[in-house]
Amino acid sequence: MARSARVFLMCPPEYFNVAYIINPWMHGNLRKIDNAVAKQQWRSLYDMLTDHATVRLVLPQPGSPDMVFTANAGLVKSKRFVVSRFRYPERQAEEPYFADWFMDRGYDVSLMPRDVPFEGAGDALFDRGDGCVWMAHGHRSIPAAREILAERLGLDVVVLKLVDQRFYHLDTCFCPLEGGYVMYYPAAFDDVSRESIERRVAADRRIAVEEKDALEFACNAVNVDSTVVVNRASTGFVKALARRGFEVVQTPLSEFMKAGGSAKCLTLRLDEP
Ligand code: ARG
Repeated sequence: MARSARVFLMCPPEYFNVAYIINPWMHGNLRKIDNAVAKQQWRSLYDMLTDHATVRLVLPQPGSPDMVFTANAGLVKSKRFVVSRFRYPERQAEEPYFADWFMDRGYDVSLMPRDVPFEGAGDALFDRGDGCVWMAHGHRSIPAAREILAERLGLDVVVLKLVDQRFYHLDTCFCPLEGGYVMYYPAAFDDVSRESIERRVAADRRIAVEEKDALEFACNAVNVDSTVVVNRASTGFVKALARRGFEVVQTPLSEFMKAGGSAKCLTLRLDEP
């Protein structure tokens, strides 16, 4: 298969586990990860992505079990990188590892102020149509991150508010797709945010996802050209995407769901022009 110019960053699940509880998905899953299964699921996602894109790796670190979720490293635009400022101390040790990775590769790296939690591409997603970046607050990131991103990365940032604890990062309930489509789980947002999505995205570009698919993390999708990779999805979801020209590829990521993450969280897209 011909490779597109897409580039992703992933982190092998060497030390992946549920070692603390910072989101509802982690409840009841403390140290319940089968690491052999996690490795095999991660490897399948990795293999699938390498068919379509280049995948770079960051070295996993003991004591940072969630580092596998590279979406939370920070936000990349061209050769500029803003490092995440994690809300919970449990993940703050990841910050310098990610900062170093980008610094070593010649990126212009900057930090968020100490009092501005911001969780990177978990909460900030590039629209594939009108060039804006959708940024969410409510659980992890705070609205003050908006101005900093706008200024440092030269972005038009649209702020959305998340209101359901289960969908604690924007990428758990919202996913811009090629062609300017946006799939999302409407109930994860407050009324004002839903209206702003409806205002910016034409009705024929909006794909509302049902709760049962949202709970399988169908919005936590990796989109490479016309391929959409997810943990699991209903036939209704697969058909809805097929009608818009997308092929849905399902790859089980149950071990990562126990930590509240899935396909998209396990990747960070680096080729953001
Ligand atoms: N356990 C991790 C956390 O709560 C999961 C992060 C998933 N990442 C994401 N981009 N949604 O921070």
